[in-house]
Amino acid sequence: MLRSIQATLRGSPSSSSRLLRRGFSSESTPDRKVAVLGAAGGIGQPLALLMKLNPFVSKLALYDIAGTPGVAADVSHINTRSEVAGYMGEEQLGKALEGSDVVIIPAGVPRKPGMTRDDLFNINAGIVKSLCTAIAKYCPNALVNMISNPVNSTVPIAAEIFKKAGTYDEKKLFGVTTLDVVRAKTFYAGKANVPVMEVNVPVVGGHAGITILPLFSQASPKANNLSDEDIKALTKRTQDGGTEVVEAKAGKGSATLSMAYAGAIFADACLKGLNGVPDVVECSFVQSSITELPFFASKVRLGKNGVEEVLGLGPLSDFEKQGLESLKPELKSSIEKGIMFANQS
Ligand SMILES: NC(=O)c1ccc[n+]([C@@H]2O[C@H](COP(=O)([O-])OP(=O)(O)OC[C@H]3O[C@@H](n4cnc5c(N)ncnc54)[C@H](O)[C@@H]3O)[C@@H](O)[C@H]2O)c1
Repeated sequence: MLRSIQATLRGSPSSSSRLLRRGFSSESTPDRKVAVLGAAGGIGQPLALLMKLNPFVSKLALYDIAGTPGVAADVSHINTRSEVAGYMGEEQLGKALEGSDVVIIPAGVPRKPGMTRDDLFNINAGIVKSLCTAIAKYCPNALVNMISNPVNSTVPIAAEIFKKAGTYDEKKLFGVTTLDVVRAKTFYAGKANVPVMEVNVPVVGGHAGITILPLFSQASPKANNLSDEDIKALTKRTQDGGTEVVEAKAGKGSATLSMAYAGAIFADACLKGLNGVPDVVECSFVQSSITELPFFASKVRLGKNGVEEVLGLGPLSDFEKQGLESLKPELKSSIEKGIMFANQS
């Protein structure tokens, strides 16, 4: 996607249309509507910008409870393909969602120093519940990219809401864990002294503290200069990456810019999958049977209907095997908390 954004920024219609044609099974670029819920927020605004730069998007709907007319007017002046519309307040949510192929949800409160992602549960669970109820009504076939924390619980909440509405399709619900992958790649490249844009590191498990498990034993390019202590430190830094930002922002929120980048990468992968681009693989927190837990983040192959295949974990080092066992109780209880919330309220 970076290359497509760079081509778009260079403003050369020929270079971007060349990019549009490359990698497609058909010559034409299908129309795709993307809705961002929480579009006036810290993540929502830069994510709206990045989605406006994405050549696969033909309609961009920006929804929030406040502030969207300004964000939409601003973003709409960018001379790229998509038509932008802002929607504000619950009475406009249906219009925002109608016809959406992908719905991205960064709505809700972020962490302050000293808070865990689970501390956000009480507020964000209710927000996610009401937004998913509307998704079930207005765009039941859309791929849902859940960014709102705690992802380990908000994804199970969404699944339960969709089940109750009779619209649940496990292939279409994704917890966005791409920021963990983005961080693991950056930190690994720095430590191993390899070119960051060539790095690949799967990150599995969930999206909070020790449930984030980067698999550095499977990282590429291989680095022979890293000790066990280095791997431990890289793992801890990836797990605490969000807290690093929360503390540096000192009360002014959590990761927004890097999250918007990660969210845009993941949405781009979903759009490519929908459009029939082969071999689109990203890590995501999805319904899964690769462990005994009902939801789990791992590599997922994306296709025309969303999840085409949930890929297995591959060979793990002893350190990663230990990490996997230690994360299961916390991840299990976060999943159960989400399911219970959705069924009680
Ligand atoms: N998945 C990840 O890796 C990741 C990373 C960083 C942050 N997050 C999460 O993303 C969420 C948003 O973070 P932020 O920094 O953008 O927060 P923010 O407070 O800056 O923005 C949130 C936006 O959501 C809007 N909102 C609140 N209730 C809404 C509703 N019912 N419908 C629509 N919009 C609503 C607010 O008006 C606000 O504009 C938080 O839950 C945060 O924890 C996730």
